[in-house]
Amino acid sequence: MDIKKILSEMTLEEKLAELTQLNANMLGIDAGAAITGPAKAMRLTEAALNSAGSTLNFIGAKVMKEIQKLHLERNPHNIPLLFMQDVIHGYRTIYPIPLAMAATFDPDIYEECCAMAARESAAAGVHVTFGPMVDLVRDARWGRVMESAGEDPYLGSIMARAQVRGFQRGNKDDRQNVSACVKHFAAYGAAEAGRDYNTVDMSDHTLREYYLPAYRAAIDEGVDMVMTSFNLYNGVPAAGNKYLVKHILRDEWGFDKVIISDYSSFSQMKKHGYLETDKECARESLLTTTDIEMMSSEYLTYAKELIEEGSIKIEDIDASVMRVLELKEKLGLFENPYRSASEEDEEKLFLSKEHRDICRRAAEKSAVLLKNDGVLPFSADIKSIAVIGPLAKRGMIGFWSCAGREDEAVSVYQGIASLIGEEKIVYAEGCSSKLRAKPDRDMISEAVKAAKSAEAVVLCLGEEREMSGEGNSRVDISLPEAQVALIRAVAEANPKTAVLLYTGRPLALTDIVDDAPAIFTVWQPGSEGGSAAANLIFGKASFEGRLPMSFPYHSGQCPIYYNRMNTGRPRPKEFEPTPYTSCYLDYPNRPLFKFGYGLTYTEFEMTPVKLSADTMKAGEKITATVTVKNIGEREGVAMPELYIRDVYASVTRPVQELRGYKKISLLPGESSEVSFDITEDMLRFHTADGSYASEAGLFHVFVEDSAEVGTPVSFRLI
Ligand code: NOJ
Repeated sequence: MDIKKILSEMTLEEKLAELTQLNANMLGIDAGAAITGPAKAMRLTEAALNSAGSTLNFIGAKVMKEIQKLHLERNPHNIPLLFMQDVIHGYRTIYPIPLAMAATFDPDIYEECCAMAARESAAAGVHVTFGPMVDLVRDARWGRVMESAGEDPYLGSIMARAQVRGFQRGNKDDRQNVSACVKHFAAYGAAEAGRDYNTVDMSDHTLREYYLPAYRAAIDEGVDMVMTSFNLYNGVPAAGNKYLVKHILRDEWGFDKVIISDYSSFSQMKKHGYLETDKECARESLLTTTDIEMMSSEYLTYAKELIEEGSIKIEDIDASVMRVLELKEKLGLFENPYRSASEEDEEKLFLSKEHRDICRRAAEKSAVLLKNDGVLPFSADIKSIAVIGPLAKRGMIGFWSCAGREDEAVSVYQGIASLIGEEKIVYAEGCSSKLRAKPDRDMISEAVKAAKSAEAVVLCLGEEREMSGEGNSRVDISLPEAQVALIRAVAEANPKTAVLLYTGRPLALTDIVDDAPAIFTVWQPGSEGGSAAANLIFGKASFEGRLPMSFPYHSGQCPIYYNRMNTGRPRPKEFEPTPYTSCYLDYPNRPLFKFGYGLTYTEFEMTPVKLSADTMKAGEKITATVTVKNIGEREGVAMPELYIRDVYASVTRPVQELRGYKKISLLPGESSEVSFDITEDMLRFHTADGSYASEAGLFHVFVEDSAEVGTPVSFRLI
């Protein structure tokens, strides 16, 4: 298709409409009738509706095909619509939330999950998914932490790349793929006090060193689109932030594909107190070179005037339209505007055995065993089990679950029933699942009775779907009072109690950690969560997940992250406050469960790390080696983690930074030597003079089974 020719034939209004993204419910219906409600409020004309370039929030191939057909009949240049959707962790078959996927530390399973989601999405008529979300998060109170890979830029970058590969290239048939859109550029995850949409304020150093790498990784992997964010950066909303979008993304990084705004974020610049009029919003957004505006019509309404006044150039509008047309061409929409949309394929793919299997494996790999006083796994010969808790019979697919349905997801109750037989289960609800629920004496006594009557107990508690996700931030991330009371009562009634936690974020578990004999989190595990949990509980599968984020003792420790600075007065003793040092009087500085931590059903012994040399020059490498041995009785996955500290530098460096990890499966008695190469490029950072380089001096190296433990060995970069 000659897209340059199409561009040359488009009127200015058509070009601006091409840059406008509208909700699907505004399209595909009689245009005259559509100019009511939101369309009217957005000042849309019939011509604009007919020329809109893209749409979001539609469900299914049938709807997609109807909208596309009508659009092509009306569009003066036969330009097909681009269909976009939030496919965040599955389309109809839902895999664990992104935070859980990060806990797998396994990019291959993540890629497989995204490829699966791409197949289903493509069949449902989706062309672009609004993912991956790669915002770094240090504050678990933020509701959108569930969409992220947690607190570490290294892990976040690995997971960003895996998602882009899976969505865009994961399937051999390239029509079964979708374009990915990395978001939210930039630093949205640093919302102050974890409150969604709140101000972000950080130094350029922090931005570049910790927050930007994962977006960059997605771009290096070839992501097709970038979405800007809702937050301020340096006092300027990202939607109109020329430094972030034009300077860093376009000019420094050379990103020449499509940039889209977040939902109505152009006009929100007025509410931010940054711009007074919609026209100014249009101008500032255009100057960032953002191409598509999502669900607003500032370009459409004001760009013509701005061009006439000379503050915007028509060439810049043309460049944006070209980028959008290029994406449509890349996706093959000019040859086949319906692309892979197919009701038959939907039928075949949605919730297929193959797709459910992928989700189950992902859910098994993402679960993290936090505590186990010899309770788990339960024996497969168990005669009775009490399954207790308001979430035990629920399909826990989590926030942003697209076309997924709770009633199509396996609950823990169903998972256990199909594994050992429903007749062995005694069920009690135990408490309400609501955030502010108070303990209910009758419900607790029924649960205690069930617990006493059974050999072992699984207590299914934690966060419901709406307790995390967009707009769902919390001040207090401990368990609700009703759940704490239930755990205490049930654990006292039956010492073989395992607490299964659903959660969209790290939780502060201090209230229950001493009472519960075993605790594990399955996060929001998706369509096969219950089967995965049952397999783990009965040892048919083994725990191998590790925490991608610190679980604090107390919400008041947030933001909390392992790669923090040492301060000038570091705390000498974790459990005892020392006057005039950087400490809390009432809690340790460190989290209750550390980044990188996770138990298995076996035990590993690791030798102290050895370095191949104690000095290194650029161009050389040093090898850090440990030997890991499985000293337990079951097969298990060990994960030695390499952390490095640059002890003195022109800009202070964190006390530890993850620079590598390896997952290895070992049989009982088996051992394996694990080595990590350390090269000069791994030691680079944004230095005081603005360059990205390493600095000679002392480095500490840790190879441990979590962050914030162990004694380092050192080398010097000379
Ligand atoms: C707003 C959210 O911030 C963004 O992540 C999402 O992609 C859009 N809405 C579209 O649903």
